[in-house]
Amino acid sequence: MTVVEEPLPAALRDSAQGRTHSIAVLGGDGTGPEVVREGLKVLDAASQRHGFRLDLHDYDLGGERYKRTGDILPDSVLEELRGFDAIYLGAIGHPDVAPGILEKGLLLRLRFELDQYINLRPVKLYPGVDCPLKDKGPEDIDFVVVRENTEGLYSGMGGFQYKGTPHEVSTQVHVTTRHGAERAIRYAFDLTRNRKDMNQLHLVAKTNVLTFVHDTWWRAFNEVGEADYPEIKREYAHVDATCMWFIKNPEWFDVIVVENMMGDIITDLGAMIQGGMGIAAGGNINPAGVSMFEPIGGSAPKYTGQNVICPLASIEAGRMMLEHLGEEAAGAAIQNAVMAALSSGKIASLSAGKMGMGTSEVGDLVAGMV
Ligand code: IPM
Ligand code: MG
Repeated sequence: MTVVEEPLPAALRDSAQGRTHSIAVLGGDGTGPEVVREGLKVLDAASQRHGFRLDLHDYDLGGERYKRTGDILPDSVLEELRGFDAIYLGAIGHPDVAPGILEKGLLLRLRFELDQYINLRPVKLYPGVDCPLKDKGPEDIDFVVVRENTEGLYSGMGGFQYKGTPHEVSTQVHVTTRHGAERAIRYAFDLTRNRKDMNQLHLVAKTNVLTFVHDTWWRAFNEVGEADYPEIKREYAHVDATCMWFIKNPEWFDVIVVENMMGDIITDLGAMIQGGMGIAAGGNINPAGVSMFEPIGGSAPKYTGQNVICPLASIEAGRMMLEHLGEEAAGAAIQNAVMAALSSGKIASLSAGKMGMGTSEVGDLVAGMV
């Protein structure tokens, strides 16, 4: 008798062999590789406890490779990256490379080419973390910024005329499309609905000055909200006032949707009120493609190789990546472990060099609690 091996149905196959997610790991520059190493330690612990595998592929993109070979992001590598389930990134930015080359050629090119049109940046103050705001605590600081990630002043359109003369002209075009604004707005409305918190979405912009591009945003926000999300409360705040409210009344925010550059700026402020760059993480999301997760801070080159940088932002980026991949239980376990580590009193501060322990010890502490 011949035994024909029938392929197992997908659900059984997953439980029999374990789920596998293929991840491209881009440590990048400066302290990027160090924090990614700790993130992977925690992801490894989570994967063992929650029955899935991460199939990791390392890429050495970044300033060192650029200096050695002139490569920033070869087309063949970009094509490979399209085939992964997600990308786990450390940081981009090298002190010996002129500003803009790696940022535009690598980080922004990845975001654009992979059409990661959302930059999702949660601002949540965990218990046990020092907050610079007087009289504000974890119950006051818990919102999400949905930053549009492919348009606006980041489009790269513009140029010089008469460069180097007294008549030099330079332009940098704020490109807004209805399609681009609308897809970010829809994502933000859906997120607001699923968060089941205040059921309130803020549009942050500068409609009183950017009367063309932000008018497109304003109409898209109201038309989409009115037609498809009537139960969600729509609020508007100018970007300058938003900076004031982040400090004065951060509890007013639930979800914010904002164009690219303004989102870049307000999320650094958001990072500060949630405890600093040591903990702030984000995801560059293409809901139908390959997404990329990273700490929102930079490569902090002066701390490279000293084991003093806080890896919690990278660990949190890893947590967001697992949640995106459908590993919600493992994501929740990492979040609980991060909160337990922060509440243990063992980490003196989240600032580089002031943690009272090393980068790898913080990774060990969290991994041990997953
Ligand atoms: C960020 C960074 C990047 C940005 C830079 C490095 C290009 O500031 O991810 O917030 O402006 O988006
Ligand atoms: Mg930024």
